[in-house]
Amino acid sequence: MTRHLIAVLPGDGIGPEVVGQARRAAEAAAAAFGFELKWREFPFGAGYYLEHGLALPPSALDDMGETEALLLGAVGDPRVKPGPLEQELLLALRFHFDQYLNLRPARSFPGAPTPVPLPDGQGLDAVVVRENTEDFYMGLGGRGQGILETGLTTRRGLYGLTGNLTLNLEPAAEVAATVGLMTRPAVARITRKAGELARARGETTLTIATKANAVPQLYGFWNEVTRETVATEFPDLTPDYQNMDALAYLLPRQPEKLGVILCPNLFGDIISDLLSALAGGLGLAASGNIGDGLSMFEPVHGSAPALAGTGRANPLAAILSAVLMLRHLGEAPAAEALENGVADYLAGPDKPWELGGRDSAEAVGSKVIARLAKP
Ligand code: NAD
Ligand code: IPM
Ligand code: MN
Repeated sequence: MTRHLIAVLPGDGIGPEVVGQARRAAEAAAAAFGFELKWREFPFGAGYYLEHGLALPPSALDDMGETEALLLGAVGDPRVKPGPLEQELLLALRFHFDQYLNLRPARSFPGAPTPVPLPDGQGLDAVVVRENTEDFYMGLGGRGQGILETGLTTRRGLYGLTGNLTLNLEPAAEVAATVGLMTRPAVARITRKAGELARARGETTLTIATKANAVPQLYGFWNEVTRETVATEFPDLTPDYQNMDALAYLLPRQPEKLGVILCPNLFGDIISDLLSALAGGLGLAASGNIGDGLSMFEPVHGSAPALAGTGRANPLAAILSAVLMLRHLGEAPAAEALENGVADYLAGPDKPWELGGRDSAEAVGSKVIARLAKP
């Protein structure tokens, strides 16, 4: 019997609750389709950080590297100021394993209400292809009093980067800066992924989010590299450049018109939450952080601290992330059965709290599992 070894990092807040259901559901799908999932659990998150003063011990990266995929809940906790957990754990994982493609499908489901009505018979079926290693997420930045001096040495799959930043401010005042960075190989690489996906979906247009009007140094470069890559490698696709502000306006007006949306890192983050709202809720939005090595699957949402322990978190985003994971493991029939189980549950009368129902995370998990069709 095939057995897949999966790393699981439940994390903080609602992370453990939703990942618990994703794990159960994935196990049930595996059992129905004749393979096995073996889990290696990692304790990282706020509790570990507060106890050890370290977000992610380097040896854990080697242990994770031995697994076939990583399933993550969410990180972030009110006891830790914003930044260290997100940068040193979540982003560190994305960067270490060079998970350059952040794939974030936004799909509506019959039975899950959308805030903007969709034309009859049409669902929302868009995908954000988010560059996941560069932009304002590089980590080169800092603050100073009059003089800002900072440096960075970091690695990505494609390169090593060493840099210094010095800024003098007169008259002296407190100053902060962070550098947005993009490289041709990384932009070309993510454009290729977006192009392949658009082609596989039978699209003729590829939407590309930009803001080259205000930040031409960075996003003008993004436009140039994406345009050249599409022209040479995807002559069948027409790039549709949209300034990020205009795209934020268009999205809620005609969500059903969008297909593949290629975004730099920061815009991709923002637009994924916007699209998830249009598709029915963050509790339905799954994602994959995909690279050529270990890939990581996680809901788009965060740790929602206020919901933790209430039983009201919607676990479907985590379950749908497990669907993406099963597909990545080559278990397409199990993935499809689980996805159909989710759709079938949502089409029925019961709903998670997020969608106005009364089903706890556990009840949602059980009801999806009960719908898994045996092959
Ligand atoms: P959030 O995604 O946690 O919550 C945003 C809103 O959506 C809240 O109203 C929340 O209650 C609701 N929500 C989120 N998931 C839900 C679910 N499954 N079911 C029902 N409602 C849900 O975003 P935030 O409040 O900005 O962040 C909270 C913490 O999570 C912060 O520490 C942040 O840094 C972290 N975060 C982590 C990740 C990650 O680990 N990938 C992603 C985003 C935010
Ligand atoms: C996400 C989150 C992260 C991001 C944060 C927590 C660093 O918002 O996964 O969408 O910005 O990528
Ligand atoms: Mn986000």
